[in-house]
Amino acid sequence: MSPTICLIEGDGIGPEVVQSAEQVLRVLLPESNFIRAEAGWRTFQERGTALPSETVDAVRAADATLFGAVSSPSEAVEGYRSPIVGLRRSLDLFANLRPIQSQPVPGSRQGIDMLIVRENSEGLYAGIERREADRAVTERVITRAGSERIVRQAAELAMGRGRHLTIVHKANVLRATCGLFREVALDTLRDYPTLTVDEQLVDAAAMRLVTAPQDYDVIVTTNLFGDILSDEAAALVGGLGLAPSGNIGEHCALFEPVHGSAPDIAGRGIANPMATLAASAMLLDYLGRPSEAQRLREAIAQVLTTGPRTPDLGGDGTTEQVTAATISALEDSCA
Ligand code: NAI
Ligand code: MG
Repeated sequence: MSPTICLIEGDGIGPEVVQSAEQVLRVLLPESNFIRAEAGWRTFQERGTALPSETVDAVRAADATLFGAVSSPSEAVEGYRSPIVGLRRSLDLFANLRPIQSQPVPGSRQGIDMLIVRENSEGLYAGIERREADRAVTERVITRAGSERIVRQAAELAMGRGRHLTIVHKANVLRATCGLFREVALDTLRDYPTLTVDEQLVDAAAMRLVTAPQDYDVIVTTNLFGDILSDEAAALVGGLGLAPSGNIGEHCALFEPVHGSAPDIAGRGIANPMATLAASAMLLDYLGRPSEAQRLREAIAQVLTTGPRTPDLGGDGTTEQVTAATISALEDSCA
């Protein structure tokens, strides 16, 4: 089968890191078809929408999508909505996967290998908000169906790893919403008797992520908690330039670096492509190509160890040099 991979470059350093990943993916999957679709701030300025409908169609039709990053204005702009949030919603990409692993770079803690599975479609980000003069309300929506499918996804992933799952919630205070999430999670996990399961309140989990990160295997949690905990955890293992994520639905999936469009360094050729390359390894796993994914992960680890490294990691390498070194590490691993 020759997979179709949709590339969405976006704004700022998005095109730089996606082009790096495209070169690497062409080495690993020479038979694949690459198509391009557009989204982001530049698209909005040119076309009046940040997420054209043909982009949504292209992601739906592709076997997997790689997304760079987009710029969003900090003030509300009439008609502009974040395309990544729009894609998650229109394609029902309900699971956000954030692997957190120790990296061979200064500043990464060692002994960490966890996966944070964040519910991506409801919770406080359901988009039900209102402002009444000096009072503002955001509704937090948790459903049985939404909780069950994210917990099942996390359980399936935990079965293929360390078989330990931690449910993170705040059911002692948020009795209705977190109460339902917790109840459904414990019910659902009865179907997975070989997993060990524990539960933690989100504030305690935030502390234990710093004091004992090596104790976690898979964490499953609601949308906002997962957003915050996953950035916290990424900081333990080398930070933004290395952190990948996946957005998974029933029928399609989109992989991206966690970082944004980095306008402060865009166009200078020094963006770190490693987060996008690590996202590409997740994409290869999703396409059912685990040996290519593993080869890519080993090549990334080798280049992080020996250099070249980009300036965010203290080096003086360019995006192009890091890409070329990764490709030559892949070619060595083939020979
Ligand atoms: P950012 O992640 O773009 O940048 C934060 C800092 O990290 C900057 O100093 C940047 O130079 C550095 N950095 C980020 N990625 C890097 C890489 N690959 N290599 C080297 N250095 C890197 O976050 P910021 O500055 O808060 O947001 C900038 C823009 O990105 C905003 O318009 C924001 O809305 C957007 N954004 C988009 C996201 C997405 O497309 N998924 C996610 C987060 C922010
Ligand atoms: Mg975030």
